[in-house]
Amino acid sequence: MKSLQTIGAVSLLLLLMGAHIDGYKPVILVHGVFEGTGHFEKLTEFITQAHPGTEVHVISLFNDLQSLTPMWKQVRGFREKIKPIMQKFPDGVHLLCYSQGGLICRGLLYKTARHNVDTFISLSSPQAGQYGATEYLQFPLLPPLKEFVFNFCYNTFGQHYSICNYWNDPHRRSRYQKSSAFLAPINGDRPHEKMKVWKKNFLRIKNLVLIGGPDDGVITPWQSSLFGFYDKKENMVEMKDQRFYRKDLFGLKTLDARGGISTCVRPGVQHLLWHSNLTVFNDCIEKWLT
Ligand SMILES: *[C@@H]1O[C@H](CO)[C@@H](O)[C@H](O)[C@H]1NC(C)=O
Repeated sequence: MKSLQTIGAVSLLLLLMGAHIDGYKPVILVHGVFEGTGHFEKLTEFITQAHPGTEVHVISLFNDLQSLTPMWKQVRGFREKIKPIMQKFPDGVHLLCYSQGGLICRGLLYKTARHNVDTFISLSSPQAGQYGATEYLQFPLLPPLKEFVFNFCYNTFGQHYSICNYWNDPHRRSRYQKSSAFLAPINGDRPHEKMKVWKKNFLRIKNLVLIGGPDDGVITPWQSSLFGFYDKKENMVEMKDQRFYRKDLFGLKTLDARGGISTCVRPGVQHLLWHSNLTVFNDCIEKWLT
């Protein structure tokens, strides 16, 4: 009787340990601008087919037109939804954030002191900002030509729209630095005293995976998905030559030095198809979701 009980207890323990060791970490998905949870159906399928048993959490918040809500408000909203998931999984979670969502995720990593995000996958996100008024990013009020968008975006009114929060006009540096309510502070383009704490929090991640490509068609310049951006002559300045990297303003250089940054560049992928492309999933995403 006693030994049976022991066997039972031991196997229960092994079972728990097995689940603990072998289980895939849950994956949290954050959508992009003008999108919602429905757009992640394929990606969810890819994940659960490759790694059966993975819990995929698609956060349903600020969907579709509501995705134009100011970025900090979205950061707060997503953070509140994601926190309980993190608490439920003390071994960590993965964060996969698409397009505008990649900036929201960076903001929430900055603002969450004890987060347990293992790998942060930024899927075609304008991490260094956007300077391209493509058809997809149009919404009533926004001027059709990128040269004029700053007029709409760089003031208190414009900053009520998410896109304006990361609009980065290389020809209007001082207007950008003064007005940008989100990108300028998170990229350290406007100094402020919270940066040290944000950096510390951000550096809790183990891996940063940056995915993007030249045929994206929306993210402009497309290298913004890899933290590259235009200088004031619209020449490309790669991540490693960006001021925020050289000065390690929010931890990119530290993360890179410890081997924590991976990039995956793929041609032939249009912006709206990144999350539904099996080759992209197989080549760039799957191996991180363990
Ligand atoms: C899927 O991605 C690959 C690159 O990884 C690309 O060559 C191909 O064109 C893409 N397919 C679609 C339908 O976007």
